[in-house]
Amino acid sequence: MNGFDVMSVSPIVPVIAIKDEKDALPLAKALSEGGVNVMEITLRTEAGLKAVEIISKEMPEMNVGTGTVCNEEDLIASKKAGAKFVFSPGISQELIDASIKHDITLIPGVSTSSEVMLAQNNNIYYCKLFPATLSGGVDILKAFSGPYAKMNFCPTGGVNLANLNDFLNLKNVLCVGGTWFVPKDAIANNDFDKITRLCKEAINSIK
Ligand code: 3PG
Repeated sequence: MNGFDVMSVSPIVPVIAIKDEKDALPLAKALSEGGVNVMEITLRTEAGLKAVEIISKEMPEMNVGTGTVCNEEDLIASKKAGAKFVFSPGISQELIDASIKHDITLIPGVSTSSEVMLAQNNNIYYCKLFPATLSGGVDILKAFSGPYAKMNFCPTGGVNLANLNDFLNLKNVLCVGGTWFVPKDAIANNDFDKITRLCKEAINSIK
């Protein structure tokens, strides 16, 4: 999958921290039932990579990748586990070079003009804006649309039902990322129906 493919699957991209790999498949199914067929499983928990491995084997129709990928080692481990792409909270030349070397799509996190420029100079046109609301939200995305007209963003960090449409209505936004529709307590309590409901609520609220 290239950056466009990843950011076109669903208008909402779940950012997931999974504690127990047994929750991987029920969670993937709940998201899919809710209309969300992409998952960013972060490497913040030990179960993260195992969850990616399980989903990529058992549910190949789910577009699963990793998040919080900070270095080459994370990237190699992601690919080995079956990740179809990797998200990073930041951007560095080292990480970009590693993604080329290991042939896996990197969607880096950017929050400044220089970082967007670094992405563009490496032919990366699909980035996460992180942390979205703190780094300027809608206003910074509008500002970026002038000098970086070809750049596309997935704002993540501080996105919720209340501001979802403000972001999605921008021309340079393809999707948004977030945790509000995959709450940790719902995963911990095996309340997967709640996750399906929250996905539907978010998708139905898109105007
Ligand atoms: C994160 O790093 O956890 C993501 O940016 C999600 O942020 P959110 O919890 O504000 O959606």
